[in-house]
Amino acid sequence: MTVDISDIERILAQEETWRQTQAINLIASENTPSDAVRRVQNSDFMGRYAEGHPNENGHVNRYYQGTQYIDQIESMAHNEIVELFRVKQADVRPISGNAANTALALAYLRGGDTVIANSTDAGGHISHGSVGVFGRRIQNRGQSLKMGSKNAINLHHLPLTEDHYHVDAQKTIELIDQVSPQLVIMGKSLFLFPEPVSEVAAYCKTKQIPLLYDGAHVLGLIAGGQFQDPLHEGATWMTGSTHKTFPGPQRGVILGNLDLEDEKKYWPAADRGVFPGSSSNHHLNTLPALLVATREMQQYGREYAAQIIRNAQALGSSLDNLGTPVEAREFGYTRSHMIAVNVAQWGGGVEIAKQLEANDIIVNYNMLPGDSDPRNPSGLRIGVPEMTRFGMDERAMGELAQLLHDGITGKNVKAQVNALRARYVEMKYV
Ligand SMILES: Cc1ncc(COP(=O)(O)O)c(C=O)c1O
Repeated sequence: MTVDISDIERILAQEETWRQTQAINLIASENTPSDAVRRVQNSDFMGRYAEGHPNENGHVNRYYQGTQYIDQIESMAHNEIVELFRVKQADVRPISGNAANTALALAYLRGGDTVIANSTDAGGHISHGSVGVFGRRIQNRGQSLKMGSKNAINLHHLPLTEDHYHVDAQKTIELIDQVSPQLVIMGKSLFLFPEPVSEVAAYCKTKQIPLLYDGAHVLGLIAGGQFQDPLHEGATWMTGSTHKTFPGPQRGVILGNLDLEDEKKYWPAADRGVFPGSSSNHHLNTLPALLVATREMQQYGREYAAQIIRNAQALGSSLDNLGTPVEAREFGYTRSHMIAVNVAQWGGGVEIAKQLEANDIIVNYNMLPGDSDPRNPSGLRIGVPEMTRFGMDERAMGELAQLLHDGITGKNVKAQVNALRARYVEMKYV
């Protein structure tokens, strides 16, 4: 007798109806992949292993037999990603953005090293901080490098300009001189504006310090040529998630555009860090899906990324005009896929995010500059990649702004939210 899974299937169906047809999802780190991306994930590869690199021309690079078809897929994914980002190196095996960062941290850093990264209250990801892979969870010959312990990583934060939304390049250069780091990390999670990669990378190069750009959030905008291009601005490695603005399966990548000499110096760390450093099997079934999403971005990425940014800016100005304060007004609110909204006067981020979810609008609460208690943040982080993919444009952003404003100020707008969403259920850019 087969096991009863009807209760599981019921929950899946409920999730599908809610998230795909009723709710308006504004989580900046999420997206819905295309039907083709979803379809190809369910394959025989789900149960297979392929450690190492694809075998080629009779050369054995794998530690498993039976890999002839994943070898083809992995080589195609590698080559097509290299082409899309116009770079020289790519590792398509990390299973997520955090896993890509972990690979580099494990392979490149040693106990007692010094790292400069964005602080969490400046929008940095928690994995960059004192409890994350760069600050704490690095093991050196079995010894935990807990902050404060003898071989801990010395973590410093990138200095910001007065508005708190931009890294101060000059002060960063001064900090580099002061603390002589082994690694500088740029990129973050509350990511409104490009980082000053060119200036800082040029200085790092004179000191032979590598610069890692964490492009988890903005990978799709970069693929579409609508944000900064960190690897062509001098970053050593770029890591990223392939399921945020890049609308693929939940995986990660490490990319590089290194000349031969730097490749020898910096790429083996990425390679060793991925395998055997941080993964064994790399969730093979999602790799064909990454290949599909790469082709979609090759064809539609420019158009999609440009519309995402136009939508985020339109949503920022509409909300602000309605009296819901949006951060960074003097800089046009954003140059990316997200905005930051201050809801302190209505009870703060946690309360308002809950209130919006009750109205089928899904957002993150987020700390804003000046906040000190992560459990009581004054902001919301609102992202538009997914709704853009379902066809919303600047006009729809105007309607959405009104519903957000009404929801934040305590009105019940669930029926209007569902009605607006029902008009945008067909996926574009595929
Ligand atoms: C800057 C940054 N890096 C890394 C990650 C982790 O990415 P993943 O969920 O793909 O592991 C995130 C997640 O949102 C992020 O914002």
